[in-house]
Amino acid sequence: MELDHILRIAVRAAYAGAEVLRSRWKHLSSIDQKGPNDLVTDADIAAEKVIIRKIQSVYPQHGIVAEESGTQPGSSEVRWLVDPLDGTVNYAHQVPFFAVSIAFARGDDVLAGVVLNPVSGELFSAQAGRGALLNGEPIHVSPEASISDSLLATGFPYERSHGFEAMAERLLRCLKEARGIRRFGSAALDLCFVACGRFAGYWEDRLQPWDTAAGALIVREAGGVTSDFSNQPVGSDARQILATNGRIHADLLELMRGGTR
Ligand code: IPD
Ligand code: CA
Ligand code: CA
Repeated sequence: MELDHILRIAVRAAYAGAEVLRSRWKHLSSIDQKGPNDLVTDADIAAEKVIIRKIQSVYPQHGIVAEESGTQPGSSEVRWLVDPLDGTVNYAHQVPFFAVSIAFARGDDVLAGVVLNPVSGELFSAQAGRGALLNGEPIHVSPEASISDSLLATGFPYERSHGFEAMAERLLRCLKEARGIRRFGSAALDLCFVACGRFAGYWEDRLQPWDTAAGALIVREAGGVTSDFSNQPVGSDARQILATNGRIHADLLELMRGGTR
């Protein structure tokens, strides 16, 4: 299978989805709640339809795992992981920090990924083994070797009924050590900001595969490291992620696990 072609289709689908998001975001006609803080807009749904149509018009036999419409198994071992709008809360509040995220995986291996910010026009992309790009130019993770020199990012799950204390403690430990911590509200873009060296590290728990699949590949292809909080490799189904420039990975892992340094 031609990965170049897969990536071209992913980019085309991402631009089509982004166009839907851009055209609707100043005048949303409906915002629904999937859970207490978990929003879905008419734009999430419309963008997802357009993205899936683009993919299936070329690869009707491929599986699709998409946030709003669920899983379509397909008749081959490959699948696309689609988040049509990563950062829905930002979108609904007109904060211009959200993205389309599309990944292509065989089994657990993510082979291609695209993350597009429709407002800034930044397009992050990667193919396994071929490096990561921002608008066509190679990107690399940052050089910081210590957490005290690092700008970090994190995110919080919508569902807050359990595990919230552990999350707050993790945040507190990192706050005490890092130069700064940001919570921008789009996991896919947070990962890409690690990839291009703006953040030295990012962590988040209780994510979904479509949040992380493309961004995590982009981090690895930019020279970074991804794992869960126990330092196990993350594949296409990652629910928990620590992504760093590599140099601060061990130290940040310690802070994830509860150690003090
Ligand atoms: C969310 C964003 C957010 C993260 C949440 C995700 P959505 O995705 O990535 O940054 O903190 O955990 O669910 O719902 O906007 O696609
Ligand atoms: Ca998401
Ligand atoms: Ca989403």
